[in-house]
Amino acid sequence: MKIIVCGCGPGSPDYLTPAVHRVVAGAVLLVGAKRLLDLFPASGAEQIPVGADIEGILKIIESRWQQQQVVVLVTGDPGISSLAQPVLRRFGRDACFLIPGISSVQVAFARLGLDWIDAKIIDAHGKNPEYDLEDLGKGKKLAILGGRQEASAWVQSCCRQWGDDYRLFCCENLSLPGERISEMAPEDLDGPVLSSLTVFLLIHGDCL
Ligand SMILES: C[S@@+](CC[C@H](N)C(=O)[O-])C[C@H]1O[C@@H](n2cnc3c(N)ncnc32)[C@H](O)[C@@H]1O
Repeated sequence: MKIIVCGCGPGSPDYLTPAVHRVVAGAVLLVGAKRLLDLFPASGAEQIPVGADIEGILKIIESRWQQQQVVVLVTGDPGISSLAQPVLRRFGRDACFLIPGISSVQVAFARLGLDWIDAKIIDAHGKNPEYDLEDLGKGKKLAILGGRQEASAWVQSCCRQWGDDYRLFCCENLSLPGERISEMAPEDLDGPVLSSLTVFLLIHGDCL
């Protein structure tokens, strides 16, 4: 038996794959953020909501995964800043089977009608990243996982460093009822608080 980690997309049930539905139908234990568990109201599996105590969740998985089908739900794609990483670190790749999902980053680029083969993805979701901004500014497409005031301030500092060459797009609540894509000036980030579900795209003017 393997632990199955399912990418559940950016939040809308429309962005869930049939593969994930099939796996969830066979789950005995479902582990994930409440908003992901809520995507499967018909599931008869035991549900454990994930909060801040990741170690506690890993211990529960540890005690169950060899006897019962444990399914871990993550937002978007498991490969981009998700619970998949601590699960893989703890149990190893051979013990896990990953099902890809539609990432919020993919949806953000799709909304702008841009390809993203040359994009750099930056995680500012949990804490601000430590990059040499001069190096980072050599890339022409940056996707930044935001959703915290501090992340917005970090994006502002990137914009200040790189001048007017880049355009800034804030992609909030992708696929959800409050979805909003807004082009902003860096100083606009001082204003209204953005959604906790926000991807920033910083795109060099040459690419638009
Ligand atoms: C822990 S990371 C998970 C990323 C996820 N694995 C993915 O591939 O989208 C959480 C961050 O993803 C982004 N995010 C997730 N869902 C989103 C949505 N519906 N709209 C905008 N951003 C979203 C936000 O930047 C949020 O802070």
